[in-house]
Amino acid sequence: MAAIRGVFSSNFGFIMAAAGSAVGLGNIWGFPTQAASNGGAAFLLMYLVLAFCLAYPAFMAEILIGRYGQANAVSSLQKIANNAWQKKFAITVGLMGLIGASLILSFYSIVAGWMMAHTIEPIAVVVNMPNIAHWLTDFSVSRNLVFTAVFTLFTMFIISKGVENGIEKWSKRLMPFMLLILVLLIIYVLTLDGAKAGVIAYLSPDLSRIFEPNLLLNALGQAFFSLSLGSGVMIIYGSYIAKKENIVSLGAYVTCIDVGIAFLSGLLIIPAMYVAQAQGVEIFNQQGQLLSEDTLVFTVLPHLFTQMGSVGLLCAFAFFALMSVASLTSSISLLEAPVSYVVERFNVSRKRSTIVVSVVIFLISTLIITNFSTLFGLVITISTQYSQPIVAMLCCVFVGWIWHRNSVLNELKQGDITVENSFFWKVWPWYTKLVCPIAITAVFIHKFV
Ligand code: PHE
Repeated sequence: MAAIRGVFSSNFGFIMAAAGSAVGLGNIWGFPTQAASNGGAAFLLMYLVLAFCLAYPAFMAEILIGRYGQANAVSSLQKIANNAWQKKFAITVGLMGLIGASLILSFYSIVAGWMMAHTIEPIAVVVNMPNIAHWLTDFSVSRNLVFTAVFTLFTMFIISKGVENGIEKWSKRLMPFMLLILVLLIIYVLTLDGAKAGVIAYLSPDLSRIFEPNLLLNALGQAFFSLSLGSGVMIIYGSYIAKKENIVSLGAYVTCIDVGIAFLSGLLIIPAMYVAQAQGVEIFNQQGQLLSEDTLVFTVLPHLFTQMGSVGLLCAFAFFALMSVASLTSSISLLEAPVSYVVERFNVSRKRSTIVVSVVIFLISTLIITNFSTLFGLVITISTQYSQPIVAMLCCVFVGWIWHRNSVLNELKQGDITVENSFFWKVWPWYTKLVCPIAITAVFIHKFV
C-alpha cells in the first residue's frame, strides 16, 4: 500500500463528509424539480417513505462493506468474496461502480461549472462588465470548458490533501455554510408575494397520486442518486470510519440530513416558482406541467432575481454559491472513489493519482462539452439510470447472499455491542437480502418494459 490509510477523525467529520456527498445538485435542483412535476406533496411523501425504507438499507450495506474491507470499493468487495468466481464478481461490481462514479463526475463537473459561472455573474454586473456577465450565463463551449476546468481544479485540490485534511476539513467548513445560505434564502423567499401558494402546493398532498408508477419510479431514482448509492462512494467513505464508531446511527444521521436538505430545498424552490409566477413568469404549460427542468434554475429563478433589483443580485449570488458549494462536497466524493482505487491498487502517491484520474475525467467532460447534444443526456442516463441502480442492487446481493451473516454481525458489533437485539438487526438483514434487490429489480424492469 502506498501510504497509511486515512480515517475520519470524528463522528462529526464522517457525517459532514457523507452528508456532503449526499447533498448536492440532486437535492437542491433535482428534488424540487421532481416534486414540482410529480404532484408536489404526494412526491414528497413517497420520497420520504422510499428514502428510509429502501435507500437507507442499501446505503448501510455500502458503508458496511467499506468499513469491513478497509479499502477501496473493488478490494473491499473482494474481501467479502469466498471463492474464485465471487472474487471476479466483486472486481466487476467494484469497477462498474468506479467507472460509474467517473462518468457521473464528468457531467456533474460541467453542471457545477455552470453554477460557479452564475455565482460570479452578479459580481460582473455590479462592477459594470456586461460582456463578461453575458458570457458567464450564455451557453458556450468556451464558458463550459473554462468553468469545468476551474471546478475540477477545486475538487483536485481538496482530494490531493487526503481524508482528514482534505475531505473532512472542507466538508466541515462547507456544509454548515451551505445550510446557512439555504435557510436565509428560504426565510427571504417566504416573505414574498405568492410564496404561500407554493408552500400549500408543496405541503398538501394529493393522495390519489401517491401510487402512480411514474411517481414511485422517480422518487426511488431520486433517493438513490441523492444518497450517492451504487458508485463506490459510500464504500470508500465507510472504509474511513473508525471501527469503534456505531455505523447504524451514523448512517441514520446522514440519511436524515440528506432527506432534510431535500425537504428544505423544496421549501425554497417551489415557493420561489410561485413567486415568479405571481410576477408574470410562465412556469407551467397549459397542461399544468412544469415547463422544463433546466428552465427552473437557469430561467425562472434568474428572472425572479432580476425583478428584485439589487437585493436580487445578492440573492442570485447566494443561491448559486449554495449550488456550487453543494456540488463541490459531492464531487470530492466522486473523485475520491477512483483516486483511492488507483492509490491502493497501483501503489502510487495520492497527488499523482489525483492528477491522473482528474485528467482522464476532464477529457471525458471535454468530449461531452464538444458533443453536447449527443453525449450529455446519454452519459447521465448510463451512469444514473443504469449503472447506479445495478451496482447498488449488487452490493445488497453481496451483503445479503455472499457475506456470512455472522461476519456481518461481528462487523456491526464493533461499534455497538448491543446491536444483535436491536430493531435494526431484526429488519435490515432481510431488507438487504430480499426487499432491496427485488424492489430495485422491479423498478428497473418497470422502467424498460
Ligand atoms: N448525491 C449527489 C447529489 O445529490 C450526487 C452523487 C451521486 C454524488 C453519486 C456521489 C455519488 O447531487
